[in-house]
Amino acid sequence: MQKKMRRSCFSRCGFARIMGWLQTVLGILVIVVSISSLFRFYSAGFFAHNEDICRHFYGIKDVYEGFDIRTLNDRVAEVITMMENLQEKLEMTLQQMEKNKEVLEKTNITRLEYRKYLEVEVLKPLYSAHIALRQVRLPKIDAIGNGTMKEEPLINAFITEEIRKYVTPKENRIGKVNFYGTEKIYNTIGHACVLMKNELQEYMDYDIGSYCKDDWNLAQKLMVHGCDPLPRRRCLTRASKVYQKPYPINESLWKLPDDRNLRWGNYQCRNFGCLSSRNSKRGYTKCTGCFEMEKEKLKWVTNSSLPVDFLIADVLAMKPGQIRIGLDYGVGTGTFAARMRELNVTIVSTALNLGAPFNEFIALRGLIPLYATLNQRLPFFDNTLDLIHTTGFLDGWIDLLLMDFILFDWDRILRPGGLLWIDRFFCNKSDLDDYMYMFLQFRYKKYKWVLAPKSKDEIYLSAVLEKPPRAI
Ligand SMILES: *[C@@H]1O[C@H](CO)[C@@H](O)[C@H](O)[C@H]1NC(C)=O
Ligand SMILES: *[C@@H]1O[C@H](CO)[C@@H](O)[C@H](O)[C@H]1NC(C)=O
Ligand SMILES: *[C@@H]1O[C@H](CO)[C@@H](O)[C@H](O)[C@H]1NC(C)=O
Ligand SMILES: *[C@@H]1O[C@H](CO)[C@@H](O)[C@H](O)[C@H]1NC(C)=O
Ligand SMILES: *[C@@H]1O[C@H](CO)[C@@H](O)[C@H](O)[C@H]1NC(C)=O
Ligand SMILES: *[C@@H]1O[C@H](CO)[C@@H](O)[C@H](O)[C@H]1NC(C)=O
Repeated sequence: MQKKMRRSCFSRCGFARIMGWLQTVLGILVIVVSISSLFRFYSAGFFAHNEDICRHFYGIKDVYEGFDIRTLNDRVAEVITMMENLQEKLEMTLQQMEKNKEVLEKTNITRLEYRKYLEVEVLKPLYSAHIALRQVRLPKIDAIGNGTMKEEPLINAFITEEIRKYVTPKENRIGKVNFYGTEKIYNTIGHACVLMKNELQEYMDYDIGSYCKDDWNLAQKLMVHGCDPLPRRRCLTRASKVYQKPYPINESLWKLPDDRNLRWGNYQCRNFGCLSSRNSKRGYTKCTGCFEMEKEKLKWVTNSSLPVDFLIADVLAMKPGQIRIGLDYGVGTGTFAARMRELNVTIVSTALNLGAPFNEFIALRGLIPLYATLNQRLPFFDNTLDLIHTTGFLDGWIDLLLMDFILFDWDRILRPGGLLWIDRFFCNKSDLDDYMYMFLQFRYKKYKWVLAPKSKDEIYLSAVLEKPPRAI
């Protein structure tokens, strides 16, 4: 009984206190709104209209150089909208409280509910607006005078604090240059992240140090749409609850891994058996049959009926003992790398989880998956790799300009004397000349060059080409 009374007093006292808080909050709100309108005046009026003043003091070019006024405007406008929404909401709540005054005094809304209301509906938006406003970066006058770019790239494009923290360059603690020879470290993100703000914000919405959502598919979606590299996150990635130790390497190369070793939540299938080509609901389209080891075992070691299929043994025989490291660029489960491993050649296989767990599968076989999209320059240095093998990925859909950039990148990382093995490239017959030009423009030595029909309209091309020495 006593307990109950205290409780109801609590809620009533709580209510009075909360009304007081609300007034304070509204007061702060008015201040923040006026500051933000001041910013609006500053950005719109000072920069855009009073050009004479700018020119008078600094010269117009200096003011604009390296500073993204449009982004600043967007940012401030966003904050103002946030504040306006918040204000509207608070006013409506107050009005409703006035209207239902009597009912309200009789009801037993708990203190907890008020707290929650304040926390979620008032403080959270106010806080993010506050942060957004604080982080609006205006150019420093001395930086403008020097004509150097002091505005940090992309920061003003984001509201979420964690993204902004990530993008902000980190200065060395000692205030001097580090062993890189730089004063700060830039954490980079793909420029197309700006186009996918909402998804990126969802991706970066977590409590620091807690578990991440099981959202690798959101991350991959961001990546393939050009938000690549993605920001790092400060949350703990989820793993299978029943992870088994992997098979030893003498067994793992050709054995389906344990189903328990990965999280299947974001796939159509729930086990490796389901990924077989016989299953029409397997959930992926590229590289059908790649999860069937009996089929994979035949690749590159048995004669095929198609002349475009070369044997690994034949290709390695072109350069005995000289092919030691390489890259397999395509969609697959690592079989090429597995075969090469048996021959003491180390191959890194690119892999995206396009509907199936390609990365996990390759890794569980004991091979190296490189989680990379087509967007980026490859993370290898110039003139380093002995071999680039590509299959199942680059074909007739690809834009010629994109292909050109990719091929030049491959040429960069291939060492002189290294081999480019184009395996079953295919395209429409009418496009063949364009693509052939692409491959031949580098004037590589042709070890093998074979064309074979794929269908009525389409044609296969396989080739093994050698990068010549560049004595310049
Ligand atoms: C509020 O009070 C009514 C009686 O006035 C009671 O039936 C109800 O359970 C109470 N609700 C809460 C959440 O305490
Ligand atoms: C302006 O830039 C020069 C070199 O770019 C630098 O040496 C100088 O310290 C800068 N001045 C200011 C005020 O930042
Ligand atoms: C793999 O190697 C381990 C020890 O190195 C051995 O006990 C096991 O029998 C081997 N498995 C096969 C299939 O050869
Ligand atoms: C493939 O065919 C060639 C000749 O056509 C033959 O010499 C070779 O032994 C065959 N290899 C295999 C693995 O069957
Ligand atoms: C690979 O290396 C091992 C150890 O050096 C050697 O025993 C084996 O014969 C090599 N295999 C091939 C195909 O060269
Ligand atoms: C190939 O190109 C021809 C002519 O441009 C076109 O009619 C045909 O539909 C194309 N075929 C395919 C499979 O794209």
